[in-house]
Amino acid sequence: MRKWYKYALDQNMRGERFIGTDEQYSECALAMGGYNPDEAYGSKADFFNKYFFGYHLGRLQCYDNFIRGHLSKTDNTISIASGRGAAELFLLEDGYRITCSDLDITEMLYQETLKLFPQFKFHKLNILQSPTPAPYDALLCLSLIYLFDDVKLSACFDNISRSLSPGGRLILDSAGSPDNFLSYLIHECLLKWETAYLLRAKRLLATSRLDGVVTQHHGYRRTDDEIVQHARQAGLKLLDRQDYAFLTDFKRSFFLNKLIAASKVSETALNYLGKHIPYIRMFCFEKVG
Ligand SMILES: C[S@@+](CC[C@H](N)C(=O)[O-])C[C@H]1O[C@@H](n2cnc3c(N)ncnc32)[C@H](O)[C@@H]1O
Repeated sequence: MRKWYKYALDQNMRGERFIGTDEQYSECALAMGGYNPDEAYGSKADFFNKYFFGYHLGRLQCYDNFIRGHLSKTDNTISIASGRGAAELFLLEDGYRITCSDLDITEMLYQETLKLFPQFKFHKLNILQSPTPAPYDALLCLSLIYLFDDVKLSACFDNISRSLSPGGRLILDSAGSPDNFLSYLIHECLLKWETAYLLRAKRLLATSRLDGVVTQHHGYRRTDDEIVQHARQAGLKLLDRQDYAFLTDFKRSFFLNKLIAASKVSETALNYLGKHIPYIRMFCFEKVG
């Protein structure tokens, strides 16, 4: 496991500042650009066009591809940490039986979601504190576990396992690329130096102002084995896994993004190299014993 940092410039400060991982619902919501309902809640088509198709470089479409191969429409399913719930609502529209849950939901988001999707169901659930009140056939956990250190991850898997009926399935997203040398080079070297020097110098030339650099401890990066071992300790056996999103980490870089846009050859080469750092690794586990 390796700590995962993100770097950004802040024009309202000088020097350097450090912030910790998001823990509260409001902090997590802010990191996702806010969970407020907006003009996209005018119609289902607008909602999915904004929050599903192409959202975060197609992140939710990768989830959807894997989930459909591992979930049946008859499965009584809960999604934890569902946030705005676009991936879940897309499946719900197609006849899947999914209840959403998260640390919280604002009354406004709940009402606007319900207006658009009358079958929307939501429960408050902190997966670090308790399992679901009744067991489910399947549980979705998308873009969550990067927030947890090893102690919290064990608690999360224990409560997930206790939320499943025997033979029930957990469909999990790694929530970030694996901890390996390439992801280290990108995140701890390239992105860090790009922000602290290249982008800062660019801004300085444009505005004659030296912006501050904010380092956020975004979360944790883990290998497949580390994730599978944590799950196994909670009685969850690996059934299947698949990788997606090979360019996502490269596209975080100003320089590599330009390279990808400039030539098909570099895009193809990076896509090939990116097989070592899939941003999305989907796992399907079965509850045993
Ligand atoms: C990165 S967002 C992911 C939202 C959504 N699943 C998606 O893929 O777009 C992480 C979500 O995890 C939720 N969360 C954080 N800690 C949690 C916990 N202990 N139990 C349940 N949800 C949690 C946050 O409120 C936030 O909505």
